[in-house]
Amino acid sequence: MKRSVVLFAAVVLLFLISCKHDELSQTDKILHNLIPDKTRYILPDEKNLAEIPQFPVNPLTPEKVELGKKIFFDPIFANEAKRYDMKYTYTCSTCHVVESGFRAGRMQGIADGGYGFGNKGEARIKYPYYANDSIDAQGARPLAQLNVAYVENTFWSGAFGSEGKNSGLDHIFGVHIPLTEVNKLGLPALESQNIEGLGVHRQQFTKKIVEDAGYKELFDKALPDLPEEERYTRKGASFAISAFLRQLLTTQAPFQLWLKGDEDAMTDQQKKGAALFFGKAGCTGCHYEKNLGSMKFEALGVDDLYEHGGLNTGPNDARNLGRAFFTNRPEDKFKFRTPQLYNMGDSGPYFHGGSIETIEGVIKYFNTGKKQNQRVPDSQLSSFIRPLGLTDEEVADLTEFVKNGLRDPNLKRYKPDSVPSGLCFPNNDPSSKVDMGCN
Ligand code: HEC
Ligand code: HEC
Repeated sequence: MKRSVVLFAAVVLLFLISCKHDELSQTDKILHNLIPDKTRYILPDEKNLAEIPQFPVNPLTPEKVELGKKIFFDPIFANEAKRYDMKYTYTCSTCHVVESGFRAGRMQGIADGGYGFGNKGEARIKYPYYANDSIDAQGARPLAQLNVAYVENTFWSGAFGSEGKNSGLDHIFGVHIPLTEVNKLGLPALESQNIEGLGVHRQQFTKKIVEDAGYKELFDKALPDLPEEERYTRKGASFAISAFLRQLLTTQAPFQLWLKGDEDAMTDQQKKGAALFFGKAGCTGCHYEKNLGSMKFEALGVDDLYEHGGLNTGPNDARNLGRAFFTNRPEDKFKFRTPQLYNMGDSGPYFHGGSIETIEGVIKYFNTGKKQNQRVPDSQLSSFIRPLGLTDEEVADLTEFVKNGLRDPNLKRYKPDSVPSGLCFPNNDPSSKVDMGCN
């Protein structure tokens, strides 16, 4: 009697295991069929600089990447702060925090005129001695620089760079947004934007500044091809930063490991979510490049940043117009660039206006298919904004894929141990120093 019970239990168990196994391989098969060409999505190894997209005007070298990494994180170049007590307290990484997936740890980044850090930038607030309109904070949620080597024209509006979507638009460079005057230099998007960005973020470079900061030799080694009168300038710094940014690749994400042949790198739920992403849910209609973003501009009908507590912005902020911020064309209104999706789970909120708190919320927004922002007319709205018909379980699977299947757990390899100035980084204001345990 006892033996037959044990036997029966064993048979049931075996049946269950084999069922589970069948189901697993079924998901695997579906996913393999959905992505027949894995190389399409495999990111190059970040250490193999030659394989990373780059331009002859600024070829990647280890010296350049190293210099860019230092400038990006070193508060010593925060030398044009509006108040003396905020000098040398912020960096690029104040708004692009490693632990937050190279985005701000909160809805809006505040560099000059902000203080505090928390654990990953979430506790930063405005410094009371600054007026709202004198802080360095932009009217959109920061984009991540992860996998930015695959972005042809940077910004939510794709405003930077003279090639790609901007070729043939030379006549509007600098016209609707003075920032894009820099496109006239004919440089790639990143090199252009970062020249401009260093100005916007109140960071100046001269030979004396570079020497005093102890960076002269680093600049000379990294930028031997730039004539000296250009080397110790924002242009030189931008070339190094751009090189650093191009090798920020999320190669250790489970999905990347799976693409490269490790069948067990993703969990069963992540695989189911991936099958939805590349299949039924239709996400690759726009998120189709190697970085799972694209140069497609679409109006999803989401709110703007001022509606969610953004400072120094408002209903008339031209950034709310998306691509039309740059082109001024009525047909481009409210259309934003499709962003990359790796390490999104490291920090919300989501969309250009930070209007949705969680990734699950984003998936539910797509699944419900109802616009949030009534100022976006239906005529502009993407045809994708309609009910998707995903079940609760499918929403959970897709969320898990985006949140953890696309999460590189080791971004800290892109952060230096220290910076040449020895200052506390990424922030160096008294409150951040306490938060980060610098003395
Ligand atoms: C005050 C916060 C803040 C600081 C400081 C900051 N950024 Fe940004 N960054 C942003 C915001 C906001 C965006 C998106 C702006 C937009 O598209 O309208 C952005 C976008 C970018 C992008 C575009 C990415 C893409 O996919 O298009 C790059 C590149 C970038 N920043 C580089 C830098 C560099 C380099 C520095 C330091 C010189 C820097 N940022 C400092 C807030 C900041
Ligand atoms: C019609 C094109 C399109 C499709 C299809 C699409 N997206 Fe997007 N996605 C975008 C655009 C454009 C944005 C940015 C919109 C904005 O902020 O105004 C975005 C933003 C996002 C964000 C937030 C990113 C951030 O930086 O805050 C996530 C996450 C996301 N999409 C995931 C998905 C998933 C999952 C699917 C499939 C259900 C999907 N998308 C389908 C175009 C699309």
